[in-house]
Amino acid sequence: MARKNQHYQKLAAGYLFPEIGRRTRLFQEQHPEAEILRLGIGNTTEPLTPSVIEGLHDGVSRLASLETYTGYGDEQGDLPLREKLAAFYAGRGVNLDADEFFVSDGAKPDSANIQSIFSRDCIAAFQDPAYPVYVDTNVIAGRSGEFQKDTGRYEGFVYLPCSRENNFFPNLPEQKVDLIYLCSPNNPTGAVAAREQLASYVEYARRNRSVLIFDASYAEYISDPALPKSIFEIEGAKECAIEINSFSKFAGFTGVRLGWTIVPKDLVIEDSEPGEINHMWFRRQTTFFNGASNIAQRGGLAVLSDAGLQECRELIQYYMNNASIIREGLLSKGLEVYGGSNAPYLWLKTPGNMTSWEFFDKLLEEAWVIGTPGVGFGPAGEGYFRLSAFGHREVVETAVGRIQSRLKI
Ligand code: MLT
Repeated sequence: MARKNQHYQKLAAGYLFPEIGRRTRLFQEQHPEAEILRLGIGNTTEPLTPSVIEGLHDGVSRLASLETYTGYGDEQGDLPLREKLAAFYAGRGVNLDADEFFVSDGAKPDSANIQSIFSRDCIAAFQDPAYPVYVDTNVIAGRSGEFQKDTGRYEGFVYLPCSRENNFFPNLPEQKVDLIYLCSPNNPTGAVAAREQLASYVEYARRNRSVLIFDASYAEYISDPALPKSIFEIEGAKECAIEINSFSKFAGFTGVRLGWTIVPKDLVIEDSEPGEINHMWFRRQTTFFNGASNIAQRGGLAVLSDAGLQECRELIQYYMNNASIIREGLLSKGLEVYGGSNAPYLWLKTPGNMTSWEFFDKLLEEAWVIGTPGVGFGPAGEGYFRLSAFGHREVVETAVGRIQSRLKI
């Protein structure tokens, strides 16, 4: 007799974005005249750049002739792309081998799956608030106890609160934890970790033989040269960190699907030899995954070409200009705003101590604008709200204008 994975029953609510979609549809049904503007999910809107389109076309053309046709590639990604990624990191002073890179169909699946190579009794720690995938997948894997309604936390997990008081970067865990998820530039708070802050976590992880799972999906939004774009810019990180990254926000590949994960061979945990965790991830990917689309990988190569990088920098600047427009607009309205520089997310304190969902409803009803309730990212996000800079300029300007003119605070 088949039985369910009971851990699914523990999940606190629906996944955040479908829940926002449900509420939005309901509002639209009740107000068909409302032209709703979306600054909620961090979904790219602008067309891919010319070199990248050319690379993707090249990927398609190759499939049309016998000489260049390819079927399955290497599960861990085609070697030219992994070598190009290694060269990209070398350009910022980080030396990694091509076989430390694992190309995938995006950072979300890798963020979800990486926990599967670690023992179920590992203690997992999360920034609070955090991208919901980290917590939910550890719940599904059975690493938590029950969800506690009064605290908004799962039993057995360690929460690392990120608040105004610590500039949205968590203090070190007070106890020994095994897996630590960090994201910088941060989704959702838009905070970017400084070198010393990451160094303190690397030191903690090496001392405790824990693993930092570092999500760098928004790294290309950093323009301040003092801020690290990769955890491997920190000395000693190769012994204790895994980095997950993506072409989604870097190059507009949210629909194309392409990302990568770096598992250094130097990484060691309590019961592993050097190279073993790298091999386990290789084993996991070769068993569960047949490799990213060959067309998408040609696109990835084009992103990393000189012209592609230049064009993607311009694309990123477009979104960062949106971020400035949102930031200025909210500040002029007297709202308390964080993030939005070196990161494409704005994190605002809800006015008048409203809850995150109260503010969601208010913004939708008064300005017809969708954002993301902070509490959806964890209990420390209560009373905060996230706006994404990934909209089309006209939409962003209209939304900010409506917030300024219609929102009653
Ligand atoms: C977000 O809005 O947090 C992200 O776009 C979701 C994602 O990248 O999966």
